[in-house]
Amino acid sequence: SVELNLRPTTLSQYIGQQKVKENLSIFIQAAKMREEPLDHVLLYGPPGLGKTTLAAIIANEMGVQFRSTSGPAIERAGDLAAILSSLEPGDVLFIDEIHRLPRSVEEVLYPAMEDFFLDIVIGTGPSARSVRIDLPPFTLVGATTRAGLLSAPLRDRFGVLSRLEFYEAKDLCAIIERTAEIFNTSISQAAAVEVARRSRGTPRIANRLLKRIRDISQVKGEEEISIDTTGEALEMLQVDKEGLDHIDHKLLKGIIHSFQGGPVGLDTIAATIGEESQTIEDVYEPYLLQIGFIQRTPRGRVATPKAYEHFGLKVADENEHR
Ligand code: ADE
Repeated sequence: SVELNLRPTTLSQYIGQQKVKENLSIFIQAAKMREEPLDHVLLYGPPGLGKTTLAAIIANEMGVQFRSTSGPAIERAGDLAAILSSLEPGDVLFIDEIHRLPRSVEEVLYPAMEDFFLDIVIGTGPSARSVRIDLPPFTLVGATTRAGLLSAPLRDRFGVLSRLEFYEAKDLCAIIERTAEIFNTSISQAAAVEVARRSRGTPRIANRLLKRIRDISQVKGEEEISIDTTGEALEMLQVDKEGLDHIDHKLLKGIIHSFQGGPVGLDTIAATIGEESQTIEDVYEPYLLQIGFIQRTPRGRVATPKAYEHFGLKVADENEHR
């Protein structure tokens, strides 16, 4: 499908994340020269930046199979044992949301990562016994939003830790142009720049917005996606000039109006606007922190003057104290 073709398959096709690519490229090359599997890799950073794509690229560049699962999907040690014992030597096993692995499964993973064996307890009570199963050497690629969500013993077993950053506008623009080409659609330079500016540094958002803008442009009978249509479409999609959406607005206005700009604790703001604390922290906050609309203080979250200005509001406290 077109959807699948959107994912680049080699490091050279992968746009942006220069530092991560440079490092991975060297580690992959060295592992191949030694004819060894690549060390285990932990990819962390906000959602939509391409962690799964990079994991699949690692497998492709190593010339091995890519096997994919997620932390919450592995409920019992036996589930993990079944996956690990079906791997071929050198394979990449990708575990998305690895911070959500049950603790009992995590403990089985330690010797598997370190020395490629499993210690599995079979049976219960007096007849219980432990069997050792040797595994083919493999590469675990784990993905999580924040490295700090992992237990220290799990984190310590990754040889490579790579943090994905929000994309620069020029890289997002290149991604949008690449996607448009795959869609067989032309987009004006100005329109591509605008979508890039309003995608929160996130390719997944850029590609999603591009699809909807393309729908609108097509219905209007345009030959090329224009800047005017892009502006209209983004307004329709309730994406503001900074790329902020309905939930970003709820979050910022919640802090500003219900808590006089803060500081307010994460759980308090979450309860007030009816979103999960974890979702706010992992999905919404990172970009708002990056663009300086909120700050984290020991006493909670604060809306900055920049956030007030964005909504055409005057900053509360400075005026009141005079
Ligand atoms: N599509 C989504 N993310 C991409 C990236 N980083 N490079 C190329 N195409 C992409």
